[in-house]
Amino acid sequence: MDKQQAIGIFDSGLGGLTVAKAIRQFLPNERLIYFGDTAHLPYGDKSPHTIQQYSAHITDFLIEQHCKVIVIACNSASSNAYHTVVDRADGRSLVLNVIDPVVDYVASTDYKEIGVIGTKSTIDTKMYEEKIQALKSGVLVSSMATPLFVPMIEEGFIFDDISNAIIRNYLSRREISDIQSLILGCTHYPIIKNQISKFYNFEVDIIDSGKIVAGSLRKLLANYNLLNDTVPSGSDMFYVSDMTRYFETIARMFFEEAIQLQVLDFWK
Ligand code: DGL
Repeated sequence: MDKQQAIGIFDSGLGGLTVAKAIRQFLPNERLIYFGDTAHLPYGDKSPHTIQQYSAHITDFLIEQHCKVIVIACNSASSNAYHTVVDRADGRSLVLNVIDPVVDYVASTDYKEIGVIGTKSTIDTKMYEEKIQALKSGVLVSSMATPLFVPMIEEGFIFDDISNAIIRNYLSRREISDIQSLILGCTHYPIIKNQISKFYNFEVDIIDSGKIVAGSLRKLLANYNLLNDTVPSGSDMFYVSDMTRYFETIARMFFEEAIQLQVLDFWK
């Protein structure tokens, strides 16, 4: 591996662009290769086996692209397929998921009651609970799937009556009451972070993974002496496995600048 190789980032679709955006801001010398598996979106209601199969295939692609590190910018894939990606990469690239950096962060705080929201496939693994409690005993972690958030965000319902009603309905449930901090365990959710903060009257610390993951990635690359210290050797690439005319608008919402998506149908 060398410093000039790209950072590979993948997600089930475009939500992982919230992580890519933070990486772009934090590590401006790095070249990014993003892959959004829009043909198979959402991963949030798929079985572990299926998510593992898709993730293994995407890993092959990012390895072919000579990525020095693969960032799994999807909680559903991070919780169900991290070991699959590590095994498949087989030492040819480093691998970072979006869960471990957040777990390390909350373990460094004094929070005693932490909530986690995410897709069904993420919440079913209980990965956040297990990892947080393994690092810090005496912490109460409660979690709940909030499956309507992804389609709601993708349809543009943000800071309006519909999103208010859905957010209120989910977050007032007993499963995640009395929390000091809430982990947004899905890379789509940063888009509604402000609205969620408002629901809690800004009294609950809402944790999204973008900056935390970008900070961990910087440390990881520095540890392996793989931080690029010159200008990047090419431009960023953004691939999707299926394309509709809506995707570029959705991508803009997550990345906050216009990007050109290229279709790469390697599932054929
Ligand atoms: N971005 C995915 C995640 O973080 C959610 C979208 C999906 O269900 O595919 O889990």
